[in-house]
Amino acid sequence: MIVLGIESSCDETAAAVVEDGHRILSSVVSSQVTIHRPYGGVVPELASRQHVKVIIPVISEALQRADLQMSSVDGIAVTQGPGLVGSLLVGIGVAKGLAYATGKPLVAVNHLEGHIQAAFMQESNPSFPVVALVVSGGHTNIYLVEDYGNIDLLGRTRDDAAGEAFDKVAKFLNLGYPGGVIIDRLARKGNPQAISFPRAYLEKDSLDFSFSGIKTAVVNFVRKYGAANQQNEGRPSGVSGISAKELPLPLADIVASFQEAVVEVLVEKTCTAAKRFKVGQLVVAGGVAANSRLRQRLLEEAAGLGLALNLPEPELCTDNAAMIAAAGFHKLKQKSGPWDLNFDAISRWPDKPADS
Ligand code: KG4
Ligand code: ZN
Repeated sequence: MIVLGIESSCDETAAAVVEDGHRILSSVVSSQVTIHRPYGGVVPELASRQHVKVIIPVISEALQRADLQMSSVDGIAVTQGPGLVGSLLVGIGVAKGLAYATGKPLVAVNHLEGHIQAAFMQESNPSFPVVALVVSGGHTNIYLVEDYGNIDLLGRTRDDAAGEAFDKVAKFLNLGYPGGVIIDRLARKGNPQAISFPRAYLEKDSLDFSFSGIKTAVVNFVRKYGAANQQNEGRPSGVSGISAKELPLPLADIVASFQEAVVEVLVEKTCTAAKRFKVGQLVVAGGVAANSRLRQRLLEEAAGLGLALNLPEPELCTDNAAMIAAAGFHKLKQKSGPWDLNFDAISRWPDKPADS
C-alpha cells in the first residue's frame, strides 16, 4: 500500500511517499529555520504563511522523487495535531482537497504517534510491548506501546519539554537558533562533568519529568559566576547580557554539563519504565532523539540492561512526513472506510495519542 504523508504541525513543511509503512520512496522536508532564526523561535503567523507558499511544491516534489503520479497513491495521511493550529490547518486543508478531488482515503494522524512510528520504520515486526520515549520541542513523554495505535502514557514533563530547555538555554547563551543541534555540536568540545547541574527526578517512582529547574540553574550559574570572574579572559563569545570573557568556564563546558544532566534523567527514567513494565525493547523518537549524547548513553544503558533499542536515523527523529505516512498506513489497514473528511486541527491533544 502506498501512502502519501503530509506534515505541517510546526515549522517544517513535509511530504513523503511510503510503501507498506516502512519503505520510504521519497521524503521532502522544507525547513523554515532561516525565517524564524531572527526571532529566536517559531513565529506562528510566519509559519502558516510559509506552509501555504511551499506545501504544493513540496507534495509535487515528493511524488516526483518517488516517480509516482497521484493515481498510484492508495491513501493520504495528514497530521491532525498537536501543533500550531494555523500551521496544521494548511496541511489538513490541502490533504482534504486532494482526497476530495481524487477520491483517495484520508486519515488524520497524531504527530506524536507519527514520531513513535518513525522508530518502527526500519523494522517491520517490532516485538511489542515496547517503551517509547518521545522527546521533542513540545513534548517529553514516556509511553508503553502494546501495539500500533495501542499506546499508554506513563510519564510526561510537568513544565518545559527537553527540546524547549535546549532551545531556551541556547537562546539565553546567545548561541543561535535552533538551539538543540547547536548545543549538541558545542557540547562535544566540553567537559560534561564540569558543573553538576540539578537533575529533577521528582517523587520516588515518578516517570514524569521537569526541565524548567535546570534551565534556571544554567541562567543562575552564568549570572553568578559571570559577575564574579571579571578577570577571566579568552572565553568563547556569545552570552547575552554578560561578556563572554566574564565566564569562569568555556561555554562548551557549560552546555556539555547542561546536556549531560538532561540526558541522564531521560535515560534513567526510560530504562526504569522498561524494567518496571518488564519490556525488552526501547524506542526513542522526536527531535531531541537526534542528540548525539542521548543516543550514545541510550546505547550504553540498553546494552548493559540487555534491552533492544530502536534509534531512528536523525532525519527520521526530527519532524518529517514519512513517519506520518507510516502511522497512516496502519490506520488505513485497520479501517475500510467510509473516510470522513469532516475533522479539524487539534492544537492540544489529550494525553494518549491513540485517543482520537
Ligand atoms: O520533533 P521536532 O523536530 O519538532 C517538534 O515536534 O517539536 O523537535 C524539535 C526539537 C527542538 O527543540 C530542537 O532544538 C530539538 O528538537 N533538537 C535537538 C537536536 N536536534 C533537534 N535537541 C538536542 N540535540 C539535537 N541534536
Ligand atoms: Zn515533532
